[in-house]
Amino acid sequence: MSGRLDWSSRPGGALQGSVTVPGDKSVSHRALMLAAIAEGTSHIRGFLEGEDTRATAAVLAQLGVRIETPSAGERVVHGVGLHGLRGTTLPLDCGNAGTGMRLLAGLLVGQAFDSRLIGDASLSKRPMRRVTDPLARMGARIDSRDGLPPLDVHGGQPLRGIRYELPVASAQVKSALLLAGLYATGETEIIEPHPTRDYTERMLAAFGWPIVFAPGHAKLEGGHLLRARDVDVPADFSSAAFFLVAASIVPGSALRLPGVGLNPRRTGLLQALRLMGADITVEHEREAGGEPVGDLVVRHAALHGVELPESIVPDMIDEFPALFIAAAVASGRTVIRGAAELRVKESDRIATMAAGLRALGARIEETPDGAIIHGGRLAGGAVDSHLDHRIAMSFAVAGLVADAAVRINDCSHVATSFPGFVTLSNGCGFDLRDAD
Ligand code: S3P
Repeated sequence: MSGRLDWSSRPGGALQGSVTVPGDKSVSHRALMLAAIAEGTSHIRGFLEGEDTRATAAVLAQLGVRIETPSAGERVVHGVGLHGLRGTTLPLDCGNAGTGMRLLAGLLVGQAFDSRLIGDASLSKRPMRRVTDPLARMGARIDSRDGLPPLDVHGGQPLRGIRYELPVASAQVKSALLLAGLYATGETEIIEPHPTRDYTERMLAAFGWPIVFAPGHAKLEGGHLLRARDVDVPADFSSAAFFLVAASIVPGSALRLPGVGLNPRRTGLLQALRLMGADITVEHEREAGGEPVGDLVVRHAALHGVELPESIVPDMIDEFPALFIAAAVASGRTVIRGAAELRVKESDRIATMAAGLRALGARIEETPDGAIIHGGRLAGGAVDSHLDHRIAMSFAVAGLVADAAVRINDCSHVATSFPGFVTLSNGCGFDLRDAD
């Protein structure tokens, strides 16, 4: 992680042009992990060059996987097979990445060796019992610090498949259990309270592992093998989200976002913004690498507040910081409920967004599982990112429509998911600079 970096965001006029956002974070993590334990060589294109996904690549390299980088956004992974990973006495550093740590925990419980997973200050505060408890039911042994990282994974434990009803909708937990299930005897079956992103399921199937899955349900059994294959990573909808909100709220804007992944478990923000009156269309819908992809075209529109349907919360779980900004400048009141998971993301996103918006003069009431946001104008001011990439980028969007500059303290974590955010943003009309 680079040193501290503060930004200043100001109105820059209408947003125009075409913005190609980087590759999907969730897909990039999974592509690396499955390719690493597959038989043969996989070529990943559109790989996210973010700190989170690079951390996962570095961990896999520590475990003996040869990974080449022919060019930025490309990885060639020489798979070592299901049982070919090698142990190391050095800690495995997942950086800021909850996805990296939770999925790797699932993968590592199936190995013959011990390992230690560590993370940065933000990741070290994130709950891990949601993965360690069900993994223990499969026979795994993981020690944590009262449910927090570091995770000490004891290898060599025989695993058995379980049927598990997830208490919270979490694709990371589901994926960790499915990865452990590859190494277990018998069937591993997951039932979700709400369907979550199904990249692990789709990709396991694409790598040749027999798996049955439907929204909210997945089932596989151990004892098969993965065959290498090439993966085309779509552009990350969560990165596109900042531009969808930005162009919606800045008068005169029209932006095109090509090649964005449109997996229905990710696109809840499209529905939410449309309910608020946004003008967003999808063009050239197609399939790429087994995922639905399309070009998003967004134009400025007058937004109004809504009572957000709880049913779409899991499909936009990473997009709430951006939605809070849209709601803060919409007309009327937006009510968010059923989103308590936001409190255990890279930061407590209800508290950090509420604090930041209040610092800009907005009226917002926090609730345990959401917020009530009263739309209006935003003043300038200073906000803290709380080491959270999505909080920093959301307030960069707020600066486009605030009455004076918005200073965002400590934006270095943006590089975890969106390298090049400043250049891309300024290229379409933001005025985003390093603060003095
Ligand atoms: C992710 C799942 C979600 C999401 C995160 C990425 C994944 O987390 O918020 O950014 O790649 O599986 P949870 O599983 O905690 O909901």
